[in-house]
Amino acid sequence: RPGHGDYSFFKKFKIYDYRGGGRISGRETISRVAASAVVSELIKPIEIKVYPVQIGEICVSEIDHNFSNELSWPDKITFPHLIAYLDAIKTEGNSVGGIVECSIVKIPAGLGDPVFEKLDANLAKAVISIGSVKGIEFGDGFKAAAAKGSENNDQISNSGFITNHSGGILGGISTGQEIKFRFVVKPTPSIKLKQSTINSKNEKVELKLEGRFDTCIIPRILPIAKAMVTLVLADAVSYQKLVSGDELNLYDYREALDKIDEDILIALKRRLKISELIGAFKKSNQLPVNDLNREQELLENLNKKADQLGLKRSSVQQIWKLLISDSKEIQ
Ligand SMILES: Cc1cc2nc3c(=O)[nH]c(=O)nc-3n(C[C@H](O)[C@H](O)[C@H](O)COP(=O)(O)O)c2cc1C
Repeated sequence: RPGHGDYSFFKKFKIYDYRGGGRISGRETISRVAASAVVSELIKPIEIKVYPVQIGEICVSEIDHNFSNELSWPDKITFPHLIAYLDAIKTEGNSVGGIVECSIVKIPAGLGDPVFEKLDANLAKAVISIGSVKGIEFGDGFKAAAAKGSENNDQISNSGFITNHSGGILGGISTGQEIKFRFVVKPTPSIKLKQSTINSKNEKVELKLEGRFDTCIIPRILPIAKAMVTLVLADAVSYQKLVSGDELNLYDYREALDKIDEDILIALKRRLKISELIGAFKKSNQLPVNDLNREQELLENLNKKADQLGLKRSSVQQIWKLLISDSKEIQ
């Protein structure tokens, strides 16, 4: 299907999942929504609203969150035009995308980090990880390109920021203002119109898809985007709680330890996988499994790192001797 992930998925995995594409189908997002429901308590009292502001050529004229409808379109005035427009696109057998806005309020200042866990970077990754999302802008976003510094800077008064061009995040850290971002959703790839493509034998074919398709994916994307934002904020809130040391109890410390243990286990699994690959490489190149020089070098490097980190050399050596022995076993 042109526009879908089938081509690149097939190039990577050499299979085509007939169930709508498998992992490249929007179906995978159900787990994200379920996960967010589990952690939603953690982010209280933060409130997240996600709503469309443009679908195809139709733009919202005035946002009204009290106007409820099946498309979650927040504008009574343009709603009839939108319905007529989508009907026409559907009759044509075509699809459209649009722009979705997210507003996060009652968020404290101080969530996020200046380099590796920037709040805007984490939100961007989470939202763009949803199939068919192609871009994101925070605050004034791309409009900032034409603004002057004097116009773009949010002046600060005794009672807080006077404007919010930044979208509530500065230096990767929440300012405490409303966080606002918009993201663009491309038109649904599956359409009923004839399209040119190839089959798995690289033969040119004409594709005419049948069945039920979403004219626009946006109504389905809204709860997923809210779920992804909830997950990112839950991480940021939990992390901030840990580093600030405020209101921590034994349960919080144990939870943090459990998370670190899980990370260690995942790293061990990855280490073993690489050892297996090294074993296969050694076998096909007739190299011995034992390489005492390399082992020596590894243990010496670990000693140096242990010293830098203030860890006990003897403990580190003990752990790695075990790991090396496990690796040799599978090689
Ligand atoms: C909830 C959801 C539902 C989707 N439904 C469809 C669909 O019915 N038909 C379709 O062609 N694409 C659908 N998509 C989009 C594809 O999954 C996506 O475009 C495809 O995986 C290619 O990825 P990319 O657009 O991010 O490059 C859906 C995506 C999501 C998140």
